[in-house]
Amino acid sequence: MRTQVGILGAGPAGLFLSLLLARRGVESVILEVRSRQAIEQTIRAGVLEQGTADLMRELGVHQRMEKLGEEHEGIEIRFRGRGRRIPLKELTGKSVTLYAQHEVIKDLVAARLQQGGEVIFSVQDVSLEGVDSDRPRILFRREPEGPLEVLECDVIAGCDGFHGPSRRAIPESVRTEYVKTYPMGWLGILTQAPPSSRELIYCNSDRGFALVSTRSPEIQRMYLQVDADDDIRNWSDDRIWEELRLRLATEEGWAPIEGPILQKSIVQMRSFVCSPMQYGRLYLAGDAAHIVPPTGAKGLNLAVSDACVLAEAIARFERHGTDDLLQRYSAICLRRVWKAERFSYFMTQMLHCFPNHSPFEREIQLAELDYVTSSVHGRGTIAENYVGLPIEWDI
Ligand code: FAD
Ligand code: DHB
Repeated sequence: MRTQVGILGAGPAGLFLSLLLARRGVESVILEVRSRQAIEQTIRAGVLEQGTADLMRELGVHQRMEKLGEEHEGIEIRFRGRGRRIPLKELTGKSVTLYAQHEVIKDLVAARLQQGGEVIFSVQDVSLEGVDSDRPRILFRREPEGPLEVLECDVIAGCDGFHGPSRRAIPESVRTEYVKTYPMGWLGILTQAPPSSRELIYCNSDRGFALVSTRSPEIQRMYLQVDADDDIRNWSDDRIWEELRLRLATEEGWAPIEGPILQKSIVQMRSFVCSPMQYGRLYLAGDAAHIVPPTGAKGLNLAVSDACVLAEAIARFERHGTDDLLQRYSAICLRRVWKAERFSYFMTQMLHCFPNHSPFEREIQLAELDYVTSSVHGRGTIAENYVGLPIEWDI
């Protein structure tokens, strides 16, 4: 089998890339290890930057987002039992859209299949060959005992997430990996209840961080900071609600609206960057190349901006045979990636309780929260980063 671009992974990076390539007349095939049902049901992100929502519209995959998603013009930052609003729209002219990642996935898969695009689900034994030649290949099986098939391509896009094989196809001597781990995880729940708040609440409390988010008028998403090695079995529904009430309490007696908990799980937090994001004819995009802690709501959106740069670079290469933009792919992406890493790190440091913090560091954290939420410049810097920085093509 042969195609122009072999894409590994049908997450946001791989799916947006295939649609952006198709719009530029470039052929691609997506290989995905999980089933269509599995990728369409995994609960993950929920915040789309303005640029991501605009891209959904540009690609004509916005109909369900307009119906089920919700535009948010501000967020609340709560600490010492008081809330301070960051008016995103007023400060930047932009907003974010709350729309679940698995709904985005459904929209993108449906659109790609409708175009006649090839997405092969549930593949096995995936490996990459000849990435440093001009004939890179992906080997895979469609079924456990099936024959080993070869997908030959001009370019491989490694969009296979943090645990996929693409990054490891870049020799260790070529890549540098920057890693930061945090001594905490996030326990996330979905609950059947009306919204507790009109806007997201990022809350710093002495008991740890809490976040109130939403999915629809009937389903809400909330998160609690927990220990990095905590087990979900330690968290009964009653304990989760008790902790959310205590952390989110305000002077006025605010409390979340409770309902049955439909789903709960713990995710780890890390910052990670692989540099460069390319080797030979292999280009990494999204979580395959970088991870951010979720506090800045940037992971999905970074996958989308990588896909935008890669689609344009590949299209120029396929159309005109010029690889100047492909050569600069990693440098262009990393400029934005590091800024998102910085923002996610900053939000994480400012909002969580750190076990090693001294009383001095705790006071510094509270002073920082007070400063950035009360100064117009502080609010501006949070707003500008939260709604999404532009892609800077010149390096
Ligand atoms: P993925 O979504 O991980 O997709 C990679 C795909 O590759 C997967 O489908 C995987 O099955 C497939 N794959 C793996 N191995 C192979 C292989 N060998 N061959 C073929 N395919 C393979 N981000 C935000 O922007 N905003 C948020 O609010 C936010 N909240 C989050 C909350 C949680 C609880 C979590 C866990 C994440 C959150 N994120 C958020 C991060 C966001 O979900 C990820 O950054 C995003 O999914 C990255 O997209 P991706 O396409 O790069 O990778
Ligand atoms: C959600 C996730 C985040 O990481 C975040 O910062 C805000 C909201 C969410 O899943 O709704």
